[in-house]
Amino acid sequence: LNKEDVIGKLATAIYNTSEPPYFEIYKEVAVTGKSTTFETYYEPINKFFIISVFSPQKGQFATVFKDITEIKLAAKKIEESEEKFSLFMKNLPLVVVIRDINGRYIYLNDEWERVMELKKEDWLGKTPYDVFPKEDAEKLLQGDREAIEKGVTEPSEFTLKHKSGIKWWMANRFVLYDENKIPAYVATVYIDITERKKAEEEREKLKDQLIQAQKLESVGRLAGGVAHDYNNMLEVILGNAQLALMQIDSREDVKNYLEEITKAAKRSANITKQLLTFARKQISEPQIVNINTIIESMLKMLRRLIGEDIDLQWILNENIWNVYIDPVQVNQIIANLCVNARDAIQSNGIITIKTKNVTLDEEYCKDIPDCLPGEYVMLSVSDNGIGIDKEIIGKIFEPFFTTKEVGKGTGLGLATVYGIVKQHHGFINVYSEKGKGSTFNIYLPRHRGLKEAEKSVTGDSWVYGNGETILVVEDEPSLLKMVQVMLERLNYTVLSAQSPAEAINTIKSKGQSIQLMITDFIMPIMDGLQLAQEVAKLSPHIKFLFMSGYTDRILFESNSSNKETNFLHKPFSISELAKKIHDILENK
Ligand SMILES: Nc1ncnc2c1ncn2[C@@H]1O[C@H](COP(=O)(O)OP(=O)(O)OP(=O)(O)O)[C@@H](O)[C@H]1O
Ligand SMILES: [Mg+2]
Repeated sequence: LNKEDVIGKLATAIYNTSEPPYFEIYKEVAVTGKSTTFETYYEPINKFFIISVFSPQKGQFATVFKDITEIKLAAKKIEESEEKFSLFMKNLPLVVVIRDINGRYIYLNDEWERVMELKKEDWLGKTPYDVFPKEDAEKLLQGDREAIEKGVTEPSEFTLKHKSGIKWWMANRFVLYDENKIPAYVATVYIDITERKKAEEEREKLKDQLIQAQKLESVGRLAGGVAHDYNNMLEVILGNAQLALMQIDSREDVKNYLEEITKAAKRSANITKQLLTFARKQISEPQIVNINTIIESMLKMLRRLIGEDIDLQWILNENIWNVYIDPVQVNQIIANLCVNARDAIQSNGIITIKTKNVTLDEEYCKDIPDCLPGEYVMLSVSDNGIGIDKEIIGKIFEPFFTTKEVGKGTGLGLATVYGIVKQHHGFINVYSEKGKGSTFNIYLPRHRGLKEAEKSVTGDSWVYGNGETILVVEDEPSLLKMVQVMLERLNYTVLSAQSPAEAINTIKSKGQSIQLMITDFIMPIMDGLQLAQEVAKLSPHIKFLFMSGYTDRILFESNSSNKETNFLHKPFSISELAKKIHDILENK
């Protein structure tokens, strides 16, 4: 409006209404002479005012307007933002704590109440010393001091015991400064990282298990390779000693030496056998077995093994399921576990052998390495001996890991057990408590199938031949020589070949007269099985016997259509060789 348009006119004319705004108030001031001030919002121009009214003379009034629109709008904005902020804090899924620089709690958000299951009112105004043990309070305030010094601290992780269990938290501290840039408060935001920590732990555990499995795998390969060559040499030592023994009845002293050699070689052969088992390179002859029957047949031997001071108990589940395994390997498992149990018991104690049928579900298998859900026969051996330290429990299955004195343990016992169990797709679970004892639970998958006929027991006397001709193929000359001598002793005619090529030449020239070919299973260039296939083409009547200490059954089975093919494990004795040849030639 222009002043000129207004001065001298009636308000009613200017506002074009019989009641101009605030006129009632103005009138009152003019009449009474009492000044007043009020705040108002004038809609037609969308403005806020503070209006002061006073009376300069009776019957007159004057007004002073102050436009406060801007201030008003700013305040409204603050109000709105405060409402948003408080909504944000109310719903923030993080715990927020603010303390002043004296350590007093001045703010706690709603999540804090939810997590701590406490009331804010009970803490506000207090310091950590009032609500925590002294040490914890000291730590908290130390964190605050660090924040005040640096402005913000590195996130720190810690655990807290809650009603629902242990939780992991990450704390982030930062300083709230006042308008003079002086630290006034320390705010801490706590993030619940329990899930993440659990996942991390899980990953770590899996990584450890993988490393462990890889380590065992590579040691296994190494052991398998060494044991192969070593076994060949043992065969030579054993065989030659046996041959020499047969010819020197008169010389008592030499005989003793030879017997010592035989004994030592046999013990060594046992070690290589264990190594090969661990490396899963030993051929096993699995059959359907009842674990209980095997245990019962072992009891007498086990008694002797563990001695008189230790009580042996057994609880065998009556209707135990069958498993498909070489009984010799069951023997190895039980004997190894019992010997370990015996060694763990210092004087008197109890060893308990148990069998049980168990069905495992996913939930159960979750935390156990190698465990797959399914039906298992559980074989458990427990003792109340010294127990196993937590630090070494992860190592006990490693080959050559032993805590026993030099000469007492080779550290192959559990490695062997592990190898056997792995080979059969089973798994092992160990429980142990220092000073209280240990329990080894072996789980072998249930075999669902028909019962096999019982195997006949092999006798120990020699069965001689009738001059039949046998071709021996072996790339290791000393072994070849020895088998040849053994066969001659057994009254066979022997032809020898150092390579498959030489063998094929011999077959070509003398094939008709040869009844049996004995060949090493693993040879360079052409393996025993391939050689046999070639020979079968040339002379279909020839029978085969494979010698091996190295192949694993899987390798063999995947190559062979005829699973009944004959095998002789190195090292073998003359009587085993004699029996095997006899059986093959007699077509048993
Ligand atoms: N029942 C048990 N109680 C306490 N410790 C055991 C038990 N079984 C095994 N251990 C620990 O595990 C180690 C490895 O056992 P493992 O059978 O592989 O080797 P070893 O018994 O030392 O030697 P080996 O069996 O070759 O004669 C043992 O040296 C021992 O420390
Ligand atoms: Mg042992």
